[in-house]
Amino acid sequence: MLPNVLQPSATDHVPVLAEEVRACLAVEPGETVVDATFGAGGHGALLAADPTARTYFDRFEKHARVQARLLRGDFGVVLPQLAANGVRADAILLDLGLSSMQLDRPERGFSYATDAPLDMRMDPSQELTARDVVNEWEERDLVTIFRRYGEERYAKQIARAIVRRRREQPFERTGELVDTIKSAIPAPARFGDGHPAKRVFQALRIAVNDELRALESALPAALEMLRPGGRLAVISFHSLEDRIVKQFFREKERGCTCPPEFPICVCGNKPELRAVQRRPIRPGEDEVAANPRSASARLRAAVKAGVAE
Ligand SMILES: C[S@@+](CC[C@H](N)C(=O)[O-])C[C@H]1O[C@@H](n2cnc3c(N)ncnc32)[C@H](O)[C@@H]1O
Repeated sequence: MLPNVLQPSATDHVPVLAEEVRACLAVEPGETVVDATFGAGGHGALLAADPTARTYFDRFEKHARVQARLLRGDFGVVLPQLAANGVRADAILLDLGLSSMQLDRPERGFSYATDAPLDMRMDPSQELTARDVVNEWEERDLVTIFRRYGEERYAKQIARAIVRRRREQPFERTGELVDTIKSAIPAPARFGDGHPAKRVFQALRIAVNDELRALESALPAALEMLRPGGRLAVISFHSLEDRIVKQFFREKERGCTCPPEFPICVCGNKPELRAVQRRPIRPGEDEVAANPRSASARLRAAVKAGVAE
């Protein structure tokens, strides 16, 4: 249980798989912990334009009775910088995706459920917005991101409808995009398998924030930062992220990169991580009932090889 002062209020982000994260990271007094996604604030907030993370962080620092520092920035940039500067940690958490405060703030434009400006930037000081992507990217690039990042079956039809509509009038709002998506897909596909705009919105969000690249550069940096015996936990919210984490853990567990037909290892690479469990940890029914946003969460954790000093 979180101490009372840190219990989320009705509008705050509810930490997902909290007990499981605590167990995997097993933090001991005196250890150094890096929370790479200090939520109840988030990336956007971390980047100055929005004071929420600072407010949450101040509250955290005051009540958690630990020495803490807030660093603003993209974890895909900040973790490699910390690693390169010799910062070492005993536990690192990456809780990917968006916080409830971001999802529930219509003006951030992340939600297909409320009409809002097409924005979707986690970092409000970044230039590229969803509006730019939707109005300016080539049709074939839209098809690619809808397929790759959204696993959208009707990527082609939707991209074509977007291009047709933007010739008449550029997109400004999420509602216009939702209507165009609905008009582009066959009627039966508008029902079932979640909201018809869910996959395209996910794809746009990943593209606008370059989310997979950030994860790909954060993972090796996190491994470098960990002390021997240090723990890394990653919560992902869709299969694209989970795949990156799974493959990274697998590669670092194997160590050796020699082709399987080699009779002996010549690369000399040793295993660097040991996954805590084979399958990702999923939230139980009770957690999903209490916090439906946790439904797609998958937690993977690993321990860095070597003996803790
Ligand atoms: C699911 S929330 C974290 C919630 C947090 N663990 C809590 O319990 O309050 C994820 C947060 O990470 C931030 N984030 C996502 N990608 C990021 C990145 N590349 N760099 C820094 N922060 C990022 C988001 O803005 C969001 O606030």
